[in-house]
Amino acid sequence: MIPDISALHSEYRKSKLSEGELHENPIYQFEKWLTDAIDAKVKEPTAMTLATVNENNQPSARIVLLKFVNEKGLAFFTNYQSRKGNELNKNPKAALVFFWTELERQVRVEGKVSKLSRKISNEYFNLRPKESRISAIISPQSQPIPNRQFLENRVAEYLKNNNEIITPENWGGYILTPRTFEFWQGRENRLHDRFLYKKIGKRWKISRLAP
Ligand SMILES: Cc1cc2nc3c(=O)[nH]c(=O)nc-3n(C[C@H](O)[C@H](O)[C@H](O)COP(=O)(O)O)c2cc1C
Repeated sequence: MIPDISALHSEYRKSKLSEGELHENPIYQFEKWLTDAIDAKVKEPTAMTLATVNENNQPSARIVLLKFVNEKGLAFFTNYQSRKGNELNKNPKAALVFFWTELERQVRVEGKVSKLSRKISNEYFNLRPKESRISAIISPQSQPIPNRQFLENRVAEYLKNNNEIITPENWGGYILTPRTFEFWQGRENRLHDRFLYKKIGKRWKISRLAP
């Protein structure tokens, strides 16, 4: 028996968010909140839920790590032949969600992804520890495998053959170019602050949303 979760309740009192303090560019607002999350020592501040949609309009979601953010968007790295990779290949529309528990903040982002260049993917791949690079090379991400031994054998074989550790063709980055951004700050009595940024041409339109 699990505890009575319907009775679990926390009040959000840490902070508030008002129009006046919002940056007119949501990327800067996002960078500010991400910095706050890092400064507050939130565990895994760059962890984000990535939602994709398959050809039957079935959404799927999983966590990936944000690896950089710039004026073009938010970037992450993965296997291009994974479930998410296949879904993004057919339908590049995706959504991201961050939840920074300790700050009582949520950020939602929607837009289209595109693949990062080989050069950028290689640069990031080569920054990873050797063991993670080998794991990325030998793991057929999202495919059924017989057992754990299968993976361990593949690593051992890879090391034994003294193979080069170069970025696999099917591994690399995506960047999500945002069309919308929403910043949510938890408030008392569920009267949270929410602001939606929508890209209209080159400008961002900001509206407050009901919680
Ligand atoms: C904290 C955390 C960070 C993760 N970071 C990544 C990542 O950056 N890239 C990645 O491909 N998978 C990452 N994963 C694993 C994914 O959640 C997922 O299991 C995997 O990518 C396969 O997803 P798919 O079958 O939907 O393609 C992470 C999981 C967790 C819990």
